[in-house]
Parts: sequence; structure tokens; C-alpha cells
Amino acid sequence: MRSKRVLLITHEDLVPPESIEGLSEKEIHEIRTEYDVYSSLYNLGHKVRILGISDRSLQLRNTIRDWKPHVVFNLLEEFGGIAAYDQHVVAYLEMIRQRYTGCNPRGLMLSRDKVLTKQVLAWHRIATPAFRLFPLGRRFAEPRKLKFPLFVKSATEDASLGISQASIVEDMGSLRDRVSFIHEQVQSDALVEEYIDGRELYIGVLGNSRLMTLPIWELNFGTLSKVQSGIATRKLKMDANYQKKHGISTGPAPGLGDSEADRLHRLAKRIYRALHLSGYARLDFRMRSDGSVFLLEANANPEITRGEDFAESAKAIGIDYETLISRIVNLGLAYMPEWRMYE
Ligand SMILES: Nc1ncnc2c1ncn2[C@@H]1O[C@H](COP(=O)(O)OP(=O)(O)O)[C@@H](O)[C@H]1O
Ligand SMILES: [Mg+2]
Repeated sequence: MRSKRVLLITHEDLVPPESIEGLSEKEIHEIRTEYDVYSSLYNLGHKVRILGISDRSLQLRNTIRDWKPHVVFNLLEEFGGIAAYDQHVVAYLEMIRQRYTGCNPRGLMLSRDKVLTKQVLAWHRIATPAFRLFPLGRRFAEPRKLKFPLFVKSATEDASLGISQASIVEDMGSLRDRVSFIHEQVQSDALVEEYIDGRELYIGVLGNSRLMTLPIWELNFGTLSKVQSGIATRKLKMDANYQKKHGISTGPAPGLGDSEADRLHRLAKRIYRALHLSGYARLDFRMRSDGSVFLLEANANPEITRGEDFAESAKAIGIDYETLISRIVNLGLAYMPEWRMYE
């Protein structure tokens, strides 16, 4: 590919310094994605600038006007502290006719809202766990149709915020307590789902109209599953020592036959299309021992740090990290928002 001007945008606290020498391990950990993407773009021969975004759009507008990037590499996960507002930034880029990587505003909006995701998929007859929403500030009413055990989580937050072993509830009293916990501690609506006991599988997808799926990845709970239910709690996602202690790991899902893997890959593509996703995404599933599969959530613009699940599953089929970043850039350049159809 010819050298392009690539403007990398991220949260203002995550702008990596020129060199990571002298940073603490924690500081490096926080800016790892930015650093990996930046250095890959640079190694690919692109001209790269990084812009930290806080709660203002003026600088973004000026930088785009003055520097005229061919593409914006979007690593933003929020705007002004609000996760769902990242879609507005992308919508703004479309408005000013700026190409960008990752998901379009419509796909971001649908996938960030776990309930809307389930409602859209229900129309397509794609299974997600049966659920009830408990809005913040509304009185608790007993759900009649749901079967215990149930799982209580935030309807809008991600990164397993508010998720621990106590998220699995066996009776009405604990359900009521956990719903209040989400309301009070996470300050969001509570989503209550039937608990799906089974394997936890992730599938990466790349593409705009022609889609490619990455190998099925499994979160292996190690020794943890002997003492408690295997779920991806906040602690499990954030605490490297805890992962090591229990032998928790991720890797290619073993033992799936060709036709089963094929069925899952096709399901992943259907979901990606149904939610109007573009660029790249990772879909989180649970599979019961009888083979039935439920989508837990779709992650638009998922984590693409080197060595993490998405990049590792690409590597497993020979797509090295720089090639992956290059594909994401190309998908951004090729994406056809409405303004380009009238060019
Ligand atoms: N209905 C459910 N049944 C079983 N486990 C669940 C269910 N919902 C969530 N989990 C567990 O909680 C984790 C986080 O839930 P998820 O919906 O993916 O939210 P997040 O956006 O925080 O990743 C999942 O990876 C899974 O381990
Ligand atoms: Mg998840």
C-alpha cells in the first residue's frame, strides 16, 4: 500500500510518549494498544499522528482540516467520559466526509446497547439468553417468565464492570439485591438474563460487505471451574496474577467438529450483518453441552492489542499483527458510507 496519512485518535490520557523507556509496567499496560497500533502503522510506512481526545471536538476538526488524513484510526472508547458517545464521534467523521477505521455509527449504537442487540437478533431468530430489563429508578417487580439461575449485569457498561460470582443468583431475594447493586454501584439499568451454563467462545470478524471470520477462541477457566462457575468476572479480566494462579487462558477452542465450527462461523457472520457492523468486531458466545449457542454480546471495535485474543486468533491463520493493522486500515479506506455513494 502507498504511504498514507493516518490520524490515530484515542483518549487524551492514552497518548503514548515517543519512547516507552522509563515508564512503569502499569503505565505501559494502559497505553499498550495505542503503542502497538502506532508502531505498526509507522513500520508499515505510513505517516502517523496521534490526537488525544477529551470532551471537545474542535481540535479534531482543525487537525483534519489542516493535515487532511487519508484515514482516522479510531481507538476511542468513549467521549467526555460516556461510552455510548463514541458513536457520535464516528457520526461526526462521516458528516465531515472523513474516512475512519472500525465500526460505523449505526453498528456502534446497536451493539453498545445489549437490549437493542437482543431485540434485533430476536427478529432474525438468533438466540440470546431470555431476559428482563430493570431500569434505574423503577420499582422491582418479580420476573415471572425467567428460570433461575439468573445472571445480573449492567445493560450498557462493558469490561465486566459489576460482574462477579454474586452476579449469578439462585432466588428472588438475591436477584432483588443484585439488581439494586447494579443500580447503585454501576448507576445503570440492570439486565437480567437466564444463566447459560457452558463454554465461553469468542469469534472475531473482519469486513464491510465481504466478511472473514477468525478461528473460534475459547476462554478456559482452568482450576477456577472446579471451585465456582466459570464466568468472565471483572477480576478475571483485570488481574494477571489471578489468571496465573488459576491457570486461566484463551486459545483455539478444542474438539469442535468441522460442521459445528462452520455453523458457528456462519452464525457470527449473520449476527455481524444483522447488527450492521463494519470494520472488525468480536462476538461473545456461550455454548451449552447440548450444542445450543447463545450470543452474549457483540463488541464493535474490540481490543486489538498485540498478543490479545483478537490478534492471536488472526495469527493462528497466518495474519501477523502488522498485516492485521494494515487490513483494518484498508477496510476503513474501502468502507462506503452514504456520502461516498454520491461522489
Ligand atoms: N447470560 C449469561 N450466562 C452466563 N454467563 C454470562 C451471561 N451473561 C454474561 N455472562 C458472563 O459474564 C461475562 C461478561 O458479560 P458480557 O455480556 O460479555 O459483558 P461485558 O460487556 O462486560 O464483557 C461473559 O463473558 C460471561 O462469562
Ligand atoms: Mg463481553
